[in-house]
Amino acid sequence: MNATETLEATRSQRLKAATRASHGALDKRIMAGEIFADRDRFARFLRVQYRFHRDIDALYANAALDALLPDLAERRRLPQVTRDLHDLEQVLPGPVPMRLGPDLPLPAALGWLYVAEGSNLGGTILYKMAGQLGLDADFGARHLAAHPDGAAGHWRAFTAALDTVLLTAEQEQQVIDAADAAFRSVHDHVELEFA
Ligand code: HEM
Repeated sequence: MNATETLEATRSQRLKAATRASHGALDKRIMAGEIFADRDRFARFLRVQYRFHRDIDALYANAALDALLPDLAERRRLPQVTRDLHDLEQVLPGPVPMRLGPDLPLPAALGWLYVAEGSNLGGTILYKMAGQLGLDADFGARHLAAHPDGAAGHWRAFTAALDTVLLTAEQEQQVIDAADAAFRSVHDHVELEFA
């Protein structure tokens, strides 16, 4: 993105550009983990997702965020990831200190939620691949299944709302930094689960 494009782009487009490197590194690391080789490998990916969705779980009950974003509570995926892990007879990852405190500033919360929601888009590809392991929306890959309205439409509804939240330049940077931190934290979870 050049300077003019940066000014004209929407917030979600700027987020995509700013996190391209951290997203690319994460995709590569996950695929290098051969998550579709067998159900055991896939379960490691589920444990990564569980850790990520547990980190952000409190955000879905945040009233200030709910006022800004459509269907916030419905977008929560921790219950589905948990059921996926149970389907594969996995023990849930043990408790850890909360990464995101209750006083997380709103712009930072938007950055984390951008990453969680966006991961549904890439998730549609992963969902198809999980079919090779006999996993689907009813067993083992529930959390990757597209929203009944379609993943793209559900994503556009989210980004349309995200793009219209009024923020200062400083808060704008907080959103980007938080999205980058979210990608890096998922990367840490991958290192832990695939060690
Ligand atoms: C938990 C891990 C992951 C997270 C947090 C994540 C996050 C994201 C985010 C935030 C976006 C939206 C980008 C945007 O349009 O603004 C996205 C899209 C995408 N991701 Fe990932 N991703 C993850 C894993 C993967 C993996 C493993 C792949 C496949 C190798 C993948 C492939 C894609 C693709 C192809 C898109 C674009 C889909 C489209 O535009 O229709 N992602 N992901």
